Amino acid sequence: MTTLFINIKELIQVRDKSVEKVSGKDMSILPTIKNAFMMIENEIIINFGPMEKLGNTKADSIIDVTGRLILPTWSDSHTHLVFADTREEEFVDRINGLSYEQIAQRGGGILNSATKLQNKPEEELYNDAAKRLEELIKSGTGSIEIKSGYGLTLESELKMLRVIKKLKENFPLPIKATFLGAHAIPNLFKEKREAYIKLIIDEMLPVIAAEKLADYIDVFCEKGYYTPEETNQILKAGLQYGLIPKIHVNQFNSIGGIKVGIENNALSLDHLEVLTNKDLAHLKDSDTIPVSLPSCSFFLGIPYTNARKIMEANVPLALASDYNPGSTPSGNMNFVVSLACIKMKMTPEEAINAATINGAYALNLSHKVGSISKGKLANFIITKPIKSYSYIPYSFTNNCIENIFLKGVKYY
Ligand code: NIG
Ligand code: FE
Repeated sequence: MTTLFINIKELIQVRDKSVEKVSGKDMSILPTIKNAFMMIENEIIINFGPMEKLGNTKADSIIDVTGRLILPTWSDSHTHLVFADTREEEFVDRINGLSYEQIAQRGGGILNSATKLQNKPEEELYNDAAKRLEELIKSGTGSIEIKSGYGLTLESELKMLRVIKKLKENFPLPIKATFLGAHAIPNLFKEKREAYIKLIIDEMLPVIAAEKLADYIDVFCEKGYYTPEETNQILKAGLQYGLIPKIHVNQFNSIGGIKVGIENNALSLDHLEVLTNKDLAHLKDSDTIPVSLPSCSFFLGIPYTNARKIMEANVPLALASDYNPGSTPSGNMNFVVSLACIKMKMTPEEAINAATINGAYALNLSHKVGSISKGKLANFIITKPIKSYSYIPYSFTNNCIENIFLKGVKYY
């Protein structure tokens, strides 16, 4: 079954399939074809080019998209999509002057989410997460990572990962699962944190590996959470089971987590609201991609990742949502791209690269998604009639999307 899209006003992010990511200055280049066609066969993009090169190509169906742009769907490499309940009480506490860290110290935050998740049946968790995922797809997300980390017991971490596994089976987009047992220290283990780390390593990891419930391993490396030494220990244990590190670092403090992540060949290092020159030097010599989460900075009122400094060092940067009930109650990647432009001074070209091809790299999926390339999945956004791609970040919170295709099938 072939489908031919014709009269595409501009086909965005066209690249050779071999491009895995773009770094530094190269991020300012967003390759496009104006007045283009694109041919897909079943779930794969098989051809594209300028309309004048179309000739009399035949297809099973032809869709005329005059006035619309086509771009790859967003690749969101960092979410906590599975959670039991929202936390607007803490949002109000913050308005009244408490900080995110103070709320966590009072037993709110991640531990609050964990208690609620432990008490919620798997089926309800699945149904809620599935609804959220549908919304995200409608807002243009076409590949995604989802973390555990609100279970914090063997049973509940497995429950979360099984929900993610079911989402993988039932949804038509690539999903990667990350085990984040080391998201916080549970109250029961406050005075014996080594015992919880032992539980992660000796009891959680073997079952997760045996049931193939995770692709990646994550740790919240931060003051009051996990030290760099503990992070190192947990990442090394995960690697023994084939779980690649993708970690939370430098959200509030630079305490050495970046070095540990890079030494353990992390796929990505996420947050980096705080970034020292030393941290940046480590990033420069690695294949690890930094991931910025601007919606989290927006919501918590903390600094934004210094994107310009990262790109000036010729390092790549990805953008992701961090969707979670505490620090980022939105998974909308259009808004992430807008914030990157408005608050981080990224150009639309840089931000779109960061949210597509570089996001795909941070998911280890850039061979499959992240650009319009022959042989990649036909996961793309058709915009409403708009003037140019810069309109997408410019018109923040306005929905520019007319349609989404996942694996060559119209999603709604
Ligand atoms: O990425 N920083 C750690 N984890 C999440 C927030 C978790 C929560 O507050 O529930 C984050 O921001
Ligand atoms: Fe996060």
